[in-house]
Amino acid sequence: MKNTGVRAPAGPSQFVPVSAFDLVVFGAAGDLSLRKLIPSLFHRWRDGQIPDESRIIGVSRSEMSEGAFRALALESFRKFHPAEAIDEGEWSAFGRLLRYVRLDAAAQGADWSPLASALAGETRQRVFYLALAPSLYGDVSRNIGAAGLRSPGARIVLEKPIGKDLESARAINDAVGSVFAEESIFRIDHYLGKETVQNLIVLRFMNSLFEPVWNANAIDHVEITVAESIGAGGRADYYDTAGALRDMVQNHLLQLLCLVAMEPPLDLEPDTVRDEKIKVMRALRPITAENVRKATVRGQYGKGASDGGVAESYEAELGRPSRTETFVAIKANIDNWRWKGAPFYLRTGKRMASRYSEIVIQFKEIAHALIDDRRALQPTRMVIRLQPDEGVKLLLVTKDPGPGGMRLRYVPLNLSYAEHFEARYPDAYERLLMAVVRGDLALFMRRDEVEAAWKWVDGILGAWAEDATPVHPYAAGTDGPSQAAMMLDRDGRSWFDGV
Ligand code: BG6
Repeated sequence: MKNTGVRAPAGPSQFVPVSAFDLVVFGAAGDLSLRKLIPSLFHRWRDGQIPDESRIIGVSRSEMSEGAFRALALESFRKFHPAEAIDEGEWSAFGRLLRYVRLDAAAQGADWSPLASALAGETRQRVFYLALAPSLYGDVSRNIGAAGLRSPGARIVLEKPIGKDLESARAINDAVGSVFAEESIFRIDHYLGKETVQNLIVLRFMNSLFEPVWNANAIDHVEITVAESIGAGGRADYYDTAGALRDMVQNHLLQLLCLVAMEPPLDLEPDTVRDEKIKVMRALRPITAENVRKATVRGQYGKGASDGGVAESYEAELGRPSRTETFVAIKANIDNWRWKGAPFYLRTGKRMASRYSEIVIQFKEIAHALIDDRRALQPTRMVIRLQPDEGVKLLLVTKDPGPGGMRLRYVPLNLSYAEHFEARYPDAYERLLMAVVRGDLALFMRRDEVEAAWKWVDGILGAWAEDATPVHPYAAGTDGPSQAAMMLDRDGRSWFDGV
């Protein structure tokens, strides 16, 4: 077999050590840093991937000693990883990698010399991680440049969302791009670091079975659901400026859609894959004020039973009235040869009945039924479970064994990760951080990808505003507003609800 692509190590998972590096985390005392970044670095250090000589320099505006920063990091680790017994000795050894510098990195004329001193003395890979509000990305990048800290090959990591629309995304990309070259900019979409999302490429292109039927001739439609049971909670102030469309669809759901819909790339080089994804984004049919009510549903959760208790409404959490959507469902059409006629239905929401992310590929119905059993005679479906209970199921109609005539059953061929693999599923941030240190851009979004996604999303935002599309209420702990079911019902379809 011809091998064209990236050569992978065979056998069990391996933590191939990286060279010692310097990582500066701006916003080090914030939620993302304490909940995701530092725990991920700890895990990879403990796995032997990060050398002890590496330096992780936390930067924030808070007045804090280095000791206090280390203690805060430990306290947060315990809070967010309650099930993980932590060895104090190990933590204090890891703590020696953590430094702290107080600095208002976005301000004009701030004194950057303490950070410059913390970085002095070593020539090695330097990474700046901006765990900050996107409105600060431009200023902080400029200040990094002005302070002379952009060492050769230095990289910058930007969290999503890159802006709140196409215009602001362009302004941020221009500002960061005036200091860092595109190949040094790592725009995070943490879904790309998830094990099961990476598996989408393997599943589609490393098995010969699927590609011949991966198109609208054989596929009726695709569903992508990212349901969360949590509410906006402590992030309500940010969330209210975003809503589900900007927070989840513009990035995570569109990335999933692209991975399912794209043409086979020639190899797995970052730009080859990104080129294919962007072609899909450009083929998305615009949603306009004329069709927005048919093609989208907006919802917002009210009070309801959720997570074993009673959840407050979104407005009560926020403390004021709001028209921000906490749920969105979209019928997306991809206008190209492969997908013409097979829509992609997307939905995501907070405070839904349970937390799960799933892609359902629903194949066409059989042409002619030899047995009349409408309940069992369902179309073939491939269900790709991204989280939790990771796995892939192929749902098939089979003959129920035993006497009693030709009775049919709809049953899964089940590839459950938990049953087949013993690996630990690292948090996506572990993989992403190590990819930045290695300089592997494949798991990050290129500028044109982000902007193409905004262009389509801007169309929807504009259509909502023009049409004054209603925001339908739904009770916390449910599947979202009934209008989302009606959207598929109008097409003679329904959301897959398990077997
Ligand atoms: C983030 C969103 O990007 O993804 C959050 O801003 C959301 O609102 C989160 O909760 C979901 O990520 P995961 O990995 O828990 O599915």
